[in-house]
Amino acid sequence: MGVDLAIDLSTCIKCGKCVELCPSKIITQRVKGGDLSLVNEPTCISCGHCVAVCPTDSIKHSTFPQDKIHAFNYDDYPTEDQFLLLCKARRSNRAFSKKRVPAETIHKIVEASYAAPAASNSRQISYTVITDPEKLKLITEFTLSTFDSIRKKLVFPLVKPFVKWFFQEAYQYIPVFESLNAAYDQGEDLILRNATGVILYHTPASYRFGVADSNLAYQNGSLMAECLGVSQFYLGFVCTASNLNKGKLEKLLGIDGRIQAGMAIGLPKFRFPKYIDREELRVETLE
Ligand SMILES: Cc1cc2nc3c(=O)[nH]c(=O)nc-3n(C[C@H](O)[C@H](O)[C@H](O)COP(=O)(O)O)c2cc1C
Repeated sequence: MGVDLAIDLSTCIKCGKCVELCPSKIITQRVKGGDLSLVNEPTCISCGHCVAVCPTDSIKHSTFPQDKIHAFNYDDYPTEDQFLLLCKARRSNRAFSKKRVPAETIHKIVEASYAAPAASNSRQISYTVITDPEKLKLITEFTLSTFDSIRKKLVFPLVKPFVKWFFQEAYQYIPVFESLNAAYDQGEDLILRNATGVILYHTPASYRFGVADSNLAYQNGSLMAECLGVSQFYLGFVCTASNLNKGKLEKLLGIDGRIQAGMAIGLPKFRFPKYIDREELRVETLE
């Protein structure tokens, strides 16, 4: 990554907080209250903890010039009750109006996604926002045709006995694939469900934590969507099809890397005036 890191010893108060926080142990302090020094700087992951914790802005980090550092007040957080309400009341709302989501609103969802944790802070996710109706149609049709060709393979007489023996569970999807395609033939899209936009989360194919990072980012984005009054649901069918047909959907859409998560978005026709309790919470504490 190559970062420039320096400590302004003329303003540093030697509190040692950056020393405690640095995950790569780059900032060292031999004795409590003593001067700080730097070791192994190339191992810096640019998480910015040192910069964010320094009370005197004494850490000079090339990734974080002054305009990227923002003082804030924890009192400005939502309360725990507000946050829990958001978590409980957020739903996958699939009743979309025809009105498009404004670009700046979509941008806020992406911005919230982008703030999520990432393995080794490697920030490998790129985002593609699609609102072109033709491209949305292409996503649905790609998904349905992938499912249909898998279905045809599964029921092919010569293949069936072997697949059934090894992948019994694959057969439970046949009726699902059939009903999704049948609905589309009748004019109902159960893949995008008339969403007016899609946000795709993609990473380089070789990146090991692509799925984990993208799904954490997704969840940040979905909570932001809920706050903005935007309806969303997870594009599980699309992601499955894109996984079964590796690289094809990406090629069709001109996307680099591999799609790891996707969000259908749109403005709601109506919202939920109530939230319901989910199934029983299963939690065990090992002490
Ligand atoms: C991995 C995953 C895949 C999903 N795939 C789809 C999908 O393809 N289509 C859809 O309409 N909803 C999809 N969903 C949404 C779930 O059906 C939904 O989250 C679940 O029913 C709970 O409802 P809630 O999100 O309103 O709480 C998916 C959710 C997850 C977590």
